[in-house]
Amino acid sequence: MALFHDPFGPSPPMSTEDYTKLAKRKLPTMTWPYLSSGADDLVTIRDNREGFRKWRLRVRTLTGANKPELKTNFCRTKLALPLALAPTGMVGLAHWTGDVAVSKAAELSGTRHVLSTAASYSIEEVAEATELDHWFQLYPFGDRDKATELMNRAASAGYTALFVTVDVPILGNREAERRSGMTIPAEFRLGSILEAGLHPAWWWNLLVHRRTAPIHYVAGRRSAVAGAIEAVRAQQRYMQGDLNWDDVAWMRDHWKGPFYVKGIMDADDAAKAVDEIGADGVVVSNHGGRQLDSCQGAIDALPAIVDRVGNRCEVLLDGGVRRGSDVIIALALGAKGVFIGRPYVHALAVGGEKAVRHVIDIFREELHRNLILMGCPSVAALDRSWLIPA
Ligand SMILES: Cc1cc2nc3c(=O)[nH]c(=O)nc-3n(C[C@H](O)[C@H](O)[C@H](O)COP(=O)(O)O)c2cc1C
Repeated sequence: MALFHDPFGPSPPMSTEDYTKLAKRKLPTMTWPYLSSGADDLVTIRDNREGFRKWRLRVRTLTGANKPELKTNFCRTKLALPLALAPTGMVGLAHWTGDVAVSKAAELSGTRHVLSTAASYSIEEVAEATELDHWFQLYPFGDRDKATELMNRAASAGYTALFVTVDVPILGNREAERRSGMTIPAEFRLGSILEAGLHPAWWWNLLVHRRTAPIHYVAGRRSAVAGAIEAVRAQQRYMQGDLNWDDVAWMRDHWKGPFYVKGIMDADDAAKAVDEIGADGVVVSNHGGRQLDSCQGAIDALPAIVDRVGNRCEVLLDGGVRRGSDVIIALALGAKGVFIGRPYVHALAVGGEKAVRHVIDIFREELHRNLILMGCPSVAALDRSWLIPA
């Protein structure tokens, strides 16, 4: 019976797409737009995927290369594969174990997670639950006291790299989210409440664990509703649309470790981040198509940014990475590594930490197999000579 279908049963998920389909079935309908959709007409979400289709992989046969090296190094950290987990806010909505499960899955898989400012678990809770140092994402709040507090807490809890997200001067127009009532504060509609009956475990965990509101904005663990209301007030207080490069420079000065600007889509901005601010790298990202719709797909923006700054900083990328072949294309175009967002959030919804590890394994296996099939000895050997325009 579908209600008792075990996702790890007879037909286990084989791809990130399988996890997305399962997550959609498993979660209450009202959460799905927040966890999967994007801005306006989803043009940029589509372009994030379609951009990868513009390239084909070169095949060099009979090279004897059958043990491809996947290990890499970015953010001054040795990683088992060139893929890490992007910051995602309020993932307690996907599964009550939230960011703790995600960070543990990342480190057990030889990679890292960037904890979001809008996380469901605190900087300290995640640090205590994990063995290795992780990375922290900061929204560049206009409130410097709040930004200082978060940077200091992250540094003392052992987070090594800081990612400042610069593509949210204002929230994108996420119409699907607004229609679903999954706004902050949530509008519980009759349909959603009736549908709740189909997801009793999810609602139980929501009420018992109260891991939905962004914990760094709200004091203590309030009830789901009180927490969400306070979160919106706090967000309005902290967020400022008129932030500029001086604010980011101030954060760079404050943070002693590796410093990345996330949400760069333009080569001039990348040069500014690196040459004027002193960033160690940039993340080419359009927030997974959740902010400005009809901006370029991330992978389409990558080559010009690599050409401009790739020789003096780490260029990383996220947006639409769903297959090992996508990772290969990004690396061949000059990215040092990639991040995934929705694929691990959807796995988390389906099966918690275990499923997040499985999604990373899917990428690892696809990378391994594809590099052998291409005749390529390592991820480090990838360059543009391995790509053919489609
Ligand atoms: C549910 C969700 C929440 C997100 N929250 C944040 C956030 O708090 N901070 C941030 O910098 N990016 C956030 N992002 C964007 C991701 O970091 C990343 O840029 C994006 O998900 C990559 O695209 P992908 O989902 O296609 O892999 C979020 C993305 C999703 C799907």
